[in-house]
Amino acid sequence: MRTFSGIQPTGRKHLGNYLGAIVQWVAHQERGEAIYCLVDLHAMSVPYEPAGLREAVYDTAATLLAAGLDPGRCIFFRQGDVHEHTELTWMLSSVTAHGDLTRMHQFKEKSAAQRELVSAALLYYPVLMAADVLVYRATAVPVGDDQRQHIELMRDVAARFNARFGETLVVPEGHYPEVGARIMDLQLPDRKMSTTGGSPQGTVYILDDPKTVAKKIRSAVTDSGSEVVRAPDKPGISNLIEILAAVRGIAPHEIEASFNGSGYGAFKGAVADAVVEYLAPVRERYEALRADEGELERILAAGAEKARAIASTTMLDVREAMGVGPVRARQ
Ligand code: TRP
Repeated sequence: MRTFSGIQPTGRKHLGNYLGAIVQWVAHQERGEAIYCLVDLHAMSVPYEPAGLREAVYDTAATLLAAGLDPGRCIFFRQGDVHEHTELTWMLSSVTAHGDLTRMHQFKEKSAAQRELVSAALLYYPVLMAADVLVYRATAVPVGDDQRQHIELMRDVAARFNARFGETLVVPEGHYPEVGARIMDLQLPDRKMSTTGGSPQGTVYILDDPKTVAKKIRSAVTDSGSEVVRAPDKPGISNLIEILAAVRGIAPHEIEASFNGSGYGAFKGAVADAVVEYLAPVRERYEALRADEGELERILAAGAEKARAIASTTMLDVREAMGVGPVRARQ
């Protein structure tokens, strides 16, 4: 199995990102080959500041390394450093239906929300994402539920390429998280925890100090009743049960069993303590890693070199299959 995934370099990652994506990435390092990418080129699809983007790449790199990504056991790099991604984007665009791109939920939402410029990059976002994965011939793509449509498009594009130009690319599979997939906002538990769409008090950032983390969790909205059980009419308590289960690495029903009869106050206190303890070492490692940008650059450069070795081989095959450049000599 070869795993590939990408993460947006938005500096501040929250508990939902952590339990939904980052923890999965760390786990996948142990199961075969894993390739992880900070997608700085995707970040250009909406208005941005160049200096801010570079900083955000460092912030996110340090966060992932602090969480346990090990550059010795995975390939970890910055998308923009490996030019094959952009070259393959163009190649794939010839087998991508324009109509499919305009139908993507994310494109529709982001272009409707865009006040400045609806860039062509926003429309092309899923083609670049397909290139990210296909250039490594990855088999597995761990992503959040919100990426399903992009994964289906990527699979269609790979299959259409192979049908048109001969078997060249691997059709990958999306892997969607079970636990921690949907960590909800603590104040608005019918919405996903999010940097943009949620409430500041309901969003726990990985780098929040322990007091802030504890305060946000203790003041999470709860529901009527007093039992610690999951139920459709108890989105607040259900969310806290999911969070504690993910942090402790056990099933939600085990949380319900152990807090049977204990009431909301004691339960929220336990969730707060557990999350504080869980995030504290990550935050400490982050501070040390983030302080050394030279070392972060060295790690990313070494990763890009390994990535390029794989990506450039795929591009030789793609170019040849598409009739670009000379036919390669066969031994
Ligand atoms: N679009 C993904 C997200 O927002 C990030 C991403 C970019 C990605 N390229 C990828 C994820 C390739 C998986 C594979 O979460």
